[in-house]
Amino acid sequence: MLESSLEFLRCVRCGSKLELNAFKLDKEIEEGILECKKCNLEFPIIDKIPVLWDDFTAYISPRKKLGSKLYQSLENQHLKKFLKSSLSKNPHNEDRTELEERWSKIYENSRNSKFYSLIKGSIDNLPKSDLVLEHGCSIGIMTSYLADSNKMVFGVDRSFSALQIAKKSYKNNLDYFIADSLSSVFGKLQFSLILALNILELIEPMELLKHMSKQISSGYLVISEPYDFDRGTNSVRKPLDEFTLRTTLNEFDFKITAKTKKPSYLPWNLKLNPRATLNYKVDFIIGKK
Ligand SMILES: C[S@@+](CC[C@H](N)C(=O)[O-])C[C@H]1O[C@@H](n2cnc3c(N)ncnc32)[C@H](O)[C@@H]1O
Ligand SMILES: [Zn+2]
Repeated sequence: MLESSLEFLRCVRCGSKLELNAFKLDKEIEEGILECKKCNLEFPIIDKIPVLWDDFTAYISPRKKLGSKLYQSLENQHLKKFLKSSLSKNPHNEDRTELEERWSKIYENSRNSKFYSLIKGSIDNLPKSDLVLEHGCSIGIMTSYLADSNKMVFGVDRSFSALQIAKKSYKNNLDYFIADSLSSVFGKLQFSLILALNILELIEPMELLKHMSKQISSGYLVISEPYDFDRGTNSVRKPLDEFTLRTTLNEFDFKITAKTKKPSYLPWNLKLNPRATLNYKVDFIIGKK
């Protein structure tokens, strides 16, 4: 975590400022604790990544394999103890570690999908921003690109393995946080550009749109979506289609740009393995406030 990121972060439970206790420092904070004195809550920074989850035990208990790996790699004793005590609670959860690692590799192998260059081309036409946020940024393909032409850029994702890959490229105006996109990890901070690419079937769409609308008082919201909502028990409660998505954005005071008024079918190809590719055709929308 960059030391300069501290001023932008807030306690996800009460909205207060956080205090930083850095244990291992190089170009950035590699191990440390962010603390909310008001809630008496501690958010660990492990392997340069802050985990800003309301309840760390709830974050790590479905990722016990990840927890054990992180435990081995940690140097600071306070953090080791913190992790160990969280790992010892709730032992019977299904483990998400391998699933998240597998998808991180798929995104790594799909970096060169034409989809990302198409989105980059469209975003290049937008005005440069002081503060940019990407929700569900995964390995940071777009986040890192945006840092080359905007002032300060943040990415949020719930996958630790994805952010470990994202954190391999250091830029002094680019940082990543483990957080639930629906939480108020930045308090009332306003962004002039927000990206939400291919995440509406994973994060309750109406709630996310409402949340992002509050994060932009003047600026651009960039959304792409394959509308792949059929996910069994993991499905969101209220899926949207290409028309209701546009109407909802209008209701949240976004004007849809002329080029994205009509639904589109951009190719988004994910290389699952050397013999299989997942080929989506995604819709693309830019909303302006
Ligand atoms: C389908 S992937 C899309 C990744 C990237 N936006 C792209 O288009 O290449 C969805 C991403 O959202 C993340 N995600 C899912 N639910 C989330 C949540 N509640 N908060 C933050 N990130 C979440 C996943 O970990 C995953 O990296
Ligand atoms: Zn708090």
